Amino acid sequence: MLDKPESFQTDMSHRDGVFISTYGCQMNVNDTERMYSLLEMVNYEPVNTPDQANLIIINSCSVREKPVHKVHSEVGRYRKMKEANPKLRIGVAGCVAQQEKKRLMEDMPIIDFVIGTDAIDQLPDVVGRVRDQGEKLVSAKFEHGKPYQIETLNRNPGVSTFVNITKGCDNFCTFCVVPFTRGRERSRSYAELVADVNTLTQRGVKEVTLLGQNVNSYKSVEGYDFGALLKGLATETDIQRIRYTTSHPKDFNRELVQIMQDHREKICEYVHLPVQAGNSEVLERMNRGYTREEYIEKAQMILDTMPGATLSTDIIVGFPGETEQQFEDTLSLLDIVPYESIYAFKYSPRPFTKAARWEDQLTEQEKSDRLQRLFDKHNEIAFGMAKKYEGQSLKVLVEGQDPETEKYYGRSTQNKTVYFEGTGDLTGQTVDVLIREAFPQTLRGRLLL
Ligand code: 5AD
Ligand code: SF4
Repeated sequence: MLDKPESFQTDMSHRDGVFISTYGCQMNVNDTERMYSLLEMVNYEPVNTPDQANLIIINSCSVREKPVHKVHSEVGRYRKMKEANPKLRIGVAGCVAQQEKKRLMEDMPIIDFVIGTDAIDQLPDVVGRVRDQGEKLVSAKFEHGKPYQIETLNRNPGVSTFVNITKGCDNFCTFCVVPFTRGRERSRSYAELVADVNTLTQRGVKEVTLLGQNVNSYKSVEGYDFGALLKGLATETDIQRIRYTTSHPKDFNRELVQIMQDHREKICEYVHLPVQAGNSEVLERMNRGYTREEYIEKAQMILDTMPGATLSTDIIVGFPGETEQQFEDTLSLLDIVPYESIYAFKYSPRPFTKAARWEDQLTEQEKSDRLQRLFDKHNEIAFGMAKKYEGQSLKVLVEGQDPETEKYYGRSTQNKTVYFEGTGDLTGQTVDVLIREAFPQTLRGRLLL
């Protein structure tokens, strides 16, 4: 447990409101939860809107499209609030904070502090100094030498929650800013993770999603690799379901899929396997470490070894130099690998990255056209693929009840969101649902008793 910082003079009779706005990936969502938990320990109270807050933090993302601009415009919206409320402090966290550091404060003086991705645990101390001593602070150093030790902090973990297993990335894909904003890769210890998952289970959690930029390269101090971690969590803890994200195809092997298959009662039959492009030359320029053919072989191996599995992927269109023919290779991949969902993006140049410096950038129009063609193609396929679920009975972990329709919802092990009617309190239970209507993202069904 973290100690309350000395510099923080808490007045227990009054709790200041804190509002955090979150952009980007699950890593950021989890970091926001950690920030709220840390701030509650020093007497802050989460509030629902920024105008109720004496502390606003923008937890930023810089993986794609105009991230600094987004921070600027959000901070701009708080200008009037700050004039009206002298107690209001504004901070920026996340990847833009790490990337821009003190430049953010120089450009926007109403920002009081900037806190980097590796400095979150210093937040209570930073906020205390900013609030009580009126300091302006930038804390954005990487702790490269330190082991990655954190306990999951979650105020109300619910049925399903996230657990960080690695941080950072050493892959340096030529389009990606993450190695620069999240630093070198580090893994948490196996023993710490087992203890963490046990604690969460005791608090009622039924499903954990293990998080990392590249979970497959997990390597603990005790010598456990990712497969051993999955197997260990499946056999040594009482957690009912395990998911993970994100995988890197180059580190994904048969042994791991076999472990998933052997423990499929607990490890979900769903693999998010970002391909990024369907052409080997583009993949090489992206520094992805696999060819089109190797990727297809791995996808096939997953489906052969784990017959019930579903796949999804990330794709970038309009990477520098991508020709029409090369883009068509990405389109044709969709005919070969049965992706139930795709997350596709227009390439956007990112600071520090190699590809941003290349001269053969495509126009916005070319990128937009390709993105649209890709989505159109996937839509054609996805409806047909969803139909196979009609008439099937799926095991659904119930996550809650929609307050408007009163329908229960949860996810199947294939990561499909399922809606159905039911009575009593089903939240947290795993139930069988017969699917009656299937769409690409959601399924509707009837509870089987
Ligand atoms: N431009 C567009 N998409 C990107 N991604 C990462 N960097 C970029 C970029 N510069 C996408 C990749 C990655 C996902 C999280 O974001 O597809 O898998
Ligand atoms: Fe970025 Fe590549 Fe690392 Fe993923 S593996 S975080 S795309 S550098």
